[in-house]
Amino acid sequence: MINVLNAKLRSIPAWAVYILGTLPFLWLVYLLFSGGLGVDPVKALERGVGLIGLKFLVAGLAITPLRKFLGLNLLKFRRAVGLLAFFYVSLHLTVWLALDIQFFWGEIWADIIKRPYITIGMGAFVLMIPLAVTSNNRVLSKIGPVRWRRLHALTYPVLILAGVHYALIGKVWQIQALVYLLGIVILLLTRVRFAKCCSWIWQKVTPAT
Ligand code: HEM
Repeated sequence: MINVLNAKLRSIPAWAVYILGTLPFLWLVYLLFSGGLGVDPVKALERGVGLIGLKFLVAGLAITPLRKFLGLNLLKFRRAVGLLAFFYVSLHLTVWLALDIQFFWGEIWADIIKRPYITIGMGAFVLMIPLAVTSNNRVLSKIGPVRWRRLHALTYPVLILAGVHYALIGKVWQIQALVYLLGIVILLLTRVRFAKCCSWIWQKVTPAT
């Protein structure tokens, strides 16, 4: 069953994911111009693209566990998913800069320094830049797979910062934000070598013979 599904997935070109991935953006643009974003369209757009960016980030992180535990092979689409995440997070930042805060630089710096969720979101965005610019075959062959993989481990702090950014928004904890944060932590834990971890704990708790 899973082999049939993997064979079907292999026949889907990666560009189809880019096209599908931009549909939510087009939908938001449509809602923006048709008045479908409510009384505060800028906030709704800002939040909308932020949430889609987070969804793509989490989807990218889920690709390896899906293969490891279910045998579902989506590796082919990982780059597209990661670049789409960067696209939406860049839009999120652009909406904040251009429409929300309207390039009022004094306020921009004050927000970045004083509001922890903005500081953390900015940290996540800055760490995403090297990931996005190295997500191509030219850089991969230039720096080699080992260094490339090491660099792309930046995905993990990005995910944690993004999850914390979301959780810190608002005066009260939002259930949805906490669910995302928990999901991110669980997905990150699946990347830890459990067998290694368990044997280390076992060695610690059992007396040496
Ligand atoms: C990886 C980077 C980031 C991700 C994944 C992300 C994601 C999110 C999410 C999911 C929301 C909440 C959406 C909702 O309420 O439904 C949000 C809100 C927001 N984010 Fe980000 N964000 C990121 C970076 C940034 C950056 C760099 C900035 C600005 C410097 C920023 C500014 C904001 C603002 C102003 C809000 C709205 C807060 C409010 O509701 O008043 N974010 N973001």
